[in-house]
Amino acid sequence: MDDKRNGQVGKSANAGFGRPRYAHITGWGMAVPDRVVTNHELAQIVDTSDEWIRTRTGIRQRHIAVDPRETSATLGARAARAALEVADFPASRLDLILCATSSPEHIFPSTASLIQDALGAVHAGACDLSAACSGFVYALSLASSMIVSGQADSVLVVGAEVLSRFVDWSDRTTCVLFGDGAGALLLQASPVPGGVLSSVLGSDGSGSDLLIVPAGGSRRPATLETVASGQHFIKMDGRAVFRFATHVMAEATRQALEKAGLGVADVDLVIPHQANERIIRSSMKQLGLSEDKVFINIDRYGNTSTASIPIAVCEAVAAGRLRPNDNVVMVGFGAGLTWAATAVRWAVPMGQEVPRWRAGQRSAGYSLARVRSRLLRLSRKVEGTLAGEQNEGLGKIVADRLEEWRRARE
Ligand code: UT7
Repeated sequence: MDDKRNGQVGKSANAGFGRPRYAHITGWGMAVPDRVVTNHELAQIVDTSDEWIRTRTGIRQRHIAVDPRETSATLGARAARAALEVADFPASRLDLILCATSSPEHIFPSTASLIQDALGAVHAGACDLSAACSGFVYALSLASSMIVSGQADSVLVVGAEVLSRFVDWSDRTTCVLFGDGAGALLLQASPVPGGVLSSVLGSDGSGSDLLIVPAGGSRRPATLETVASGQHFIKMDGRAVFRFATHVMAEATRQALEKAGLGVADVDLVIPHQANERIIRSSMKQLGLSEDKVFINIDRYGNTSTASIPIAVCEAVAAGRLRPNDNVVMVGFGAGLTWAATAVRWAVPMGQEVPRWRAGQRSAGYSLARVRSRLLRLSRKVEGTLAGEQNEGLGKIVADRLEEWRRARE
């Protein structure tokens, strides 16, 4: 995209009233915990084997956040920093941060707000999006709409998970599948045609019981009984989800292409949600797409839910599988049931060098963001204490007045 080279992405979008705007992906980043857990290791703790896991899912290993300080927010912030680095874009200019996650740090506040604080993205709104493994494509679609409608010039979309904390490590039907990690894409406004071309979002809530964490929400709040009976862990009807996924991945891809005015023959690369290699291969076969048109990295990460597509994007870029003007489809499915697909014209020139001093400047900015956050917390505490003292003062005045009134009446 020549306009990127001219430095126009994100700046020229407001140049002319009524001019069409496009949402381009200009930055990408990923982060995974250091600890790798192999299938052989899992075979030590549940009744499974490397052979079963590899042949049924394609997974060889996954990254697991064993350090309790590593959370969806810390992984998300790391991926976000990497994406901003690629785009050479300061966090302070972000308009919005959307975080798709099924393993948020808390029910509230949002994980996106924690990432916003860690980045020092002081002008950005932030919120989470819950659509399970389809969440990243949902968020990408909403981010693109915000940009195209002129509501935002830059949106950071993060997918971040530590699902290992919701996995029953004694249940072999689920614990072998999931991995932890985060990925982020930066979307910026541009007058140059391309970027996110179309999206298809779908849901069928009648399948809500097929993949679920039954307790911990308002329907079944946490009790000793829900904890003891393992109702806070992921429960899945694997076969039913498998059947749904193989059908919906191909269909959603077709629909997203049609909306974008493209055919299957125009596709350069499909980046699917990495849940099961057999689901991916079967879907691509239905579409008539050859193996070189699909990106698969489930062998090294397992199913990282909302993070799987942005992590795959990062690896596809690194492997030289994404080139300017390529037509890419990202497609996912998950609990809900939900599904989502988006067609994107990849338009960013690769290999642009970011001056080192700017990386240093950004890293200093993140340290400042930490200091700023601590100072704000401290000042809130001080403010609270002072307000308390003032209230005490007020209370004394009210008590004195009441006493005066009582005496006057005697
Ligand atoms: O992001 C969305 C998340 N979810 C998914 O995408 C999941 C979609 N579903 C799947 O990927 C597959 O259904 C699984 C990988 C979960 C299971 O593969 P499957 O080929 O559908 O196996 P299955 O459920 O039909 O089970 C076959 C056998 C069963 O034994 P029996 O009843 O035939 O004796 C299972 O108990 O394999 C057994 N089994 C295992 N054996 C060894 C299930 N899990 C394991 C295991 N190791 N980890």
